[in-house]
Amino acid sequence: MKVLAGIQPSGDLHIGNYFGSIKKMIDRQENDNVYAFIANYHAMTTVSDGNRLAELTMQAATDFLALGIRPEKTMFWVQSDVKEVLELYWILSQFTPMGFLERAHSYKDKVAKGINANHSLFSYPVLMAADILLFDSETIPVGKDQIQHVEIARDIAVRFNNEYGDIFHLPEHQVEAEVATVPGIDGAKMSKSYGNTINIFGEEKKIQKVIKKIITDTTALEEPKEYESCNIYALAKLFLDKHDLAAFEERYRTPGEGYGHFKLYLHDVMWEYFKPYREKREYYASHQDEVREILRAGADKARHIASEKMEIIRSKTGITY
Ligand code: ADP
Ligand code: TRP
Repeated sequence: MKVLAGIQPSGDLHIGNYFGSIKKMIDRQENDNVYAFIANYHAMTTVSDGNRLAELTMQAATDFLALGIRPEKTMFWVQSDVKEVLELYWILSQFTPMGFLERAHSYKDKVAKGINANHSLFSYPVLMAADILLFDSETIPVGKDQIQHVEIARDIAVRFNNEYGDIFHLPEHQVEAEVATVPGIDGAKMSKSYGNTINIFGEEKKIQKVIKKIITDTTALEEPKEYESCNIYALAKLFLDKHDLAAFEERYRTPGEGYGHFKLYLHDVMWEYFKPYREKREYYASHQDEVREILRAGADKARHIASEKMEIIRSKTGITY
């Protein structure tokens, strides 16, 4: 199965991103053909500081390699290294009725939040369709908010195919139904925009401080405690195997320990879990040229596929002479 994943380079990754999306993509590398790229053109719609965007792009590449992208198996590149996507974006625009874009929830939500709408925000789904269709992607793993964008890509492909024959594979979105929402330190959905995240990478002291802020009830030390409704437990559960989880539950049932102890435990478990990734991250952070090399090699492969596809598309649409 050809799986395509676009990742916006949007800053520090948190454990909600990891369990909700990154880990799944990493795990899929075993059995699927994964194409993963850093969507820096898309990120321009929200990051206008050029230095910042360049920095975020390298940060995303470093983080994803550290977390397990295997460039020998997975095609991994930066969107802007394959310019064909911009050409296809224009061509696909001819097959995109205004209504498709006017109905896009993501666009409407951003406008409702007061973001100044410009053309790039409006046409964002067409560029995303180009990302998807250029590589004949079969499955697009996305969060709920992106389903409509994949549907738009599919609708554009259908219109194009109606005109020129079977050129594009029709993509399907894939939303993992069983992905529980990872809660933040306040129990609401963990999200950068709520300021309730626990980051994957970062100084130990800072992470400890954040974990200390996890909201709990006020059951006293000498009382047994409920684990089902506890935020510490919900987070620890992500990292523990059955055996350790059962032992942790027993600690809730047994009077004598408080939430402070449980928080220390959560920190230790999490710190240990990400240890190998942290080490790998340190390696890539001090070998940024190697990261660039990996991205360039990925872009070469992607460009090869893209340019063959564009040849066909140009000839069908008359962008040739
Ligand atoms: P944020 O809400 O912090 O801005 P993004 O919207 O950038 O996060 O999410 C990137 C990916 O991580 C998406 O695929 C999304 O589904 C996943 N994700 C983000 N937060 C969570 C969460 N709390 N639980 C599960 N998955 C999450
Ligand atoms: N719009 C996606 C997001 O915000 C990122 C993205 C860009 C993407 N192009 C893509 C995702 C192509 C999947 C396929 O998360």
